[in-house]
Amino acid sequence: MDPSSAPSASSAFSTLIRTASHEQHMEAETSTFMGDLLGGRLGVDAYARYTEQLWFVYEALESGARHLASDPVAGPFIRPELLRLPSLEQDLAHLRGPDWRSTLTALPTTRAYADRVAECARDWPAGYIAHHYTRYLGDLSGGQIIRAKAERTWGFPKKGDGVRFYVFEGIPNPAAFKREYRELLDGVRADDLEKQRVITECKRAFALNTAVFHALGEEFPLSA
Ligand code: HEM
Repeated sequence: MDPSSAPSASSAFSTLIRTASHEQHMEAETSTFMGDLLGGRLGVDAYARYTEQLWFVYEALESGARHLASDPVAGPFIRPELLRLPSLEQDLAHLRGPDWRSTLTALPTTRAYADRVAECARDWPAGYIAHHYTRYLGDLSGGQIIRAKAERTWGFPKKGDGVRFYVFEGIPNPAAFKREYRELLDGVRADDLEKQRVITECKRAFALNTAVFHALGEEFPLSA
């Protein structure tokens, strides 16, 4: 490739998207609900309720996106080793019992989040990538911190039932996987305007996550 046409590290799409969402990442990370959950101040019921919300999001990300596997823009991102729905369902069976589906409900904020993911999966493959990135790269990163805390706080077996969502059996080297993922992002075939739109959608994805945390925080307030 002509070196003059190669993007510099600072203008690479993976860097732009990461930098653009940095502030909102901190907001999500330091939300009251996450803080209380990771601080061991909430019961396992709050963790189960959060896991239920994730089910709706991943249902939209995975069931609603099978057709995207052959899409020229989003297709390369659809990787079987990322799929979380089967693990989430195992965790929910452990947390809520075999009838977990009968009591499963989405918070309104979760419904809005899942609907937006489904909308992108249906109509806008590049926008779908923003949601894909926000969830899966987060799960491969901070998700590992959440898993360790959950195992310690509620006594789940290490990498076992209850925290399978955070265990990527098919990704033995997450750092290498994330490097390859960033290369995929850098290779997305879209013009600058479309890339800006994807970055805006990524910010929206973070905001949708934070809204779910706020709603969960209201459902599980700490008694002062
Ligand atoms: C307490 C909760 C969280 C913790 C402790 C946490 C922690 C981290 C850490 C340490 C990284 C850095 C990984 C690296 O440099 O390779 C990271 C990356 C990331 N996190 Fe989080 N995170 C949390 C919540 C979230 C949430 C709620 C989201 C969005 C749903 C999210 C999305 C991401 C994404 C997309 C990345 C990848 C950034 C990139 O390299 O492009 N995180 N997280």
